[in-house]
Amino acid sequence: MKKAVFLLTLTLLAILFVSCNNKSEEYIDPRGTDYAGSESCIQCHKVQSEMAFKSSHFKATAPAILGNVSGDFDSKNHTFIYDKDTKLVMEKDGDSLYQVLYKNGKETARYKFEIVFGTKHAQTSVYWKDNNTYELPVSFYHSINNWATSPGFPADKPYFDRMVVKDCYSCHSSNISSRTVNQNSTDRNFMSMEVEDIINKKTIVYGIDCERCHGPAKKHVDFHLKNPNVKVANSITSFKTLNRQQKLDACALCHAGNDGMKLKSRFEFKPGDNLSEFFRETKSITDTAKFDVHGNQFRLMAQSKCFNSQKMDCITCHNPHENASKNMASYSKICMSCHQGLKHNETTLKTMPEKLLASNCVECHMPKQASNAINFQLSNSKQLSNYILRTHKIGIYPNAKK
Ligand code: HEC
Ligand code: HEC
Ligand code: HEC
Ligand code: HEC
Ligand code: HEC
Ligand code: HEC
Ligand code: HEC
Repeated sequence: MKKAVFLLTLTLLAILFVSCNNKSEEYIDPRGTDYAGSESCIQCHKVQSEMAFKSSHFKATAPAILGNVSGDFDSKNHTFIYDKDTKLVMEKDGDSLYQVLYKNGKETARYKFEIVFGTKHAQTSVYWKDNNTYELPVSFYHSINNWATSPGFPADKPYFDRMVVKDCYSCHSSNISSRTVNQNSTDRNFMSMEVEDIINKKTIVYGIDCERCHGPAKKHVDFHLKNPNVKVANSITSFKTLNRQQKLDACALCHAGNDGMKLKSRFEFKPGDNLSEFFRETKSITDTAKFDVHGNQFRLMAQSKCFNSQKMDCITCHNPHENASKNMASYSKICMSCHQGLKHNETTLKTMPEKLLASNCVECHMPKQASNAINFQLSNSKQLSNYILRTHKIGIYPNAKK
């Protein structure tokens, strides 16, 4: 009897041990069992992980918890005034953040910050309604260190009905699944179909993570856990084996604007795929075609004479795991690797001595420009403010100095 109890206890303990162990290992990625999740990469790729986790890519979307949300919620800069009777106030209530609408001093509605988009220059947020996300009417801009209208939103009345569709998430997140409710629409390419989608909240993988760029890596992880002595990468696409166009496409997927005709979802893209199978171009890259500085680094760069060297891609100047370097002189070194023995003319050298010139290539040849796609208005102001980004069309801009 004693023996039986002992054995039973032992068996129970064993079961408990196994199930606990399983639990801690059990990570189920919303994308499916081919995916391992970014947390699993750290143990073998500490350097890349530490950089990437801090990058804007990883924060391109995030849950709107305290610490992820930019902007003032309690001092003087947290009110947007539409008119003398109507104002919107950014408020904190416990751990939750809200945009609260007041009419004649009375609260009439409150909208919760649920997901934030962006960190570097601006941040816009969405709230949930009926299984869809809607953009909040006021966003935060670092250039003015203040709140102002979300891009394209009116400054004279609050507007809460702009749905943020799956398309936004396809460039700002690593996964989101949805179900189409409109059964009549059978055309997969019909853009507005997405407006009918119902988003499954549980399937969101926030930010651009490792496997968004490298493809599903569960097999790779399992292989290397089992074979710790193998130092050659297994079951993962190496960027080194890709041709130039494939390397460019892996970035252009999200950095080439959004005006092509969609053939396949961006979420299906894996490194090595050709972008031409995902979009049909509607605009050709002539050197006079106008592309916006916002979100279209690829097409602008493709218009540069430097690009014709057939050697330049995004990795020439950017570490894919890090934010764009703020050290302008570091880019000059890259320019000089192709432009040795460069001579500027007398007029140019008069505007800037050669020594200074050498560390400022970018200031004159990739000047900052205002986006035509994005502008915003401050509280109580009719004036439109511009969103300024550096152009990737490397060229001669006679008026760009300093
Ligand atoms: C158990 C260890 C291990 C884990 C976990 C792991 N890797 Fe690796 N990975 C390796 C080894 C070993 C190599 C080959 C040596 C190297 O390049 O560091 C490698 C190489 C790579 C390469 C370079 C391929 C090439 O040839 O250019 C990529 C990309 C990569 N891993 C991505 C990932 C991602 C993404 C994850 C997480 C989902 C991950 N790895 C998790 C061990 C691991
Ligand atoms: C924005 C896309 C992107 C993201 C996100 C990304 N990588 Fe990479 N990764 C690349 C590219 C492109 C290369 C090839 C770089 C090169 O050839 O110089 C690369 C190279 C690598 C390599 C090969 C060694 C090296 O540093 O060149 C490893 C390992 C790696 N990545 C792991 C990871 C891990 C782990 C994560 C997540 C923590 C991650 N990557 C996130 C694009 C990305
Ligand atoms: C799935 C979409 C996606 C892919 C693929 C992608 N990016 Fe991005 N990238 C973004 C988004 C979105 C942002 C803006 C993130 C933010 O600030 O919130 C961004 C930002 C950046 C930035 C600015 C980061 C900073 O703060 O300075 C650089 C540089 C960049 N990407 C380069 C690359 C390169 C190089 C590749 C290819 C190896 C690449 N991206 C692939 C979506 C993508
Ligand atoms: C084709 C891909 C693409 C789509 C679609 C897209 N974005 Fe972006 N977005 C980017 C890239 C790339 C950047 C960063 C680089 C830039 O501004 O040129 C960016 C920047 C941003 C920023 C500023 C981030 C920062 O760090 O300053 C916000 C906010 C933003 N997007 C929100 C949205 C919203 C909301 C939608 C949907 C209405 C959307 N985006 C659709 C690619 C995209
Ligand atoms: C991969 C090599 C490469 C890199 C890197 C490179 N360039 Fe170039 N660049 C070229 C080539 C090739 C040409 C065309 C030369 C010609 O047509 O004579 C060119 C042309 C130019 C021109 C003349 C443009 C015109 O419209 O006449 C300027 C200006 C220029 N580059 C500046 C830069 C700057 C600034 C950088 C760094 C931000 C840079 N380049 C990086 C290869 C490169
Ligand atoms: C010749 C060098 C060079 C190449 C090649 C290059 N970039 Fe950049 N990139 C820069 C510089 C310089 C900046 C501006 C950094 C700053 O002002 O802080 C920048 C900034 C960015 C930003 C942030 C925009 C902003 O103003 O915050 C994004 C996004 C970006 N690059 C994406 C790309 C992509 C995608 C490619 C490939 C299509 C690419 N870059 C190729 C030099 C380069
Ligand atoms: C003060 C602004 C300024 C700076 C800084 C500057 N350039 Fe220029 N660059 C010009 C102007 C203006 C021209 C056209 C007139 C001339 O050739 O001087 C030019 C011309 C060029 C050309 C075309 C020359 C030719 O013969 O076709 C190249 C290539 C170039 N610059 C590269 C660079 C590189 C690389 C750097 C950094 C080491 C740099 N520039 C720094 C303003 C500048």
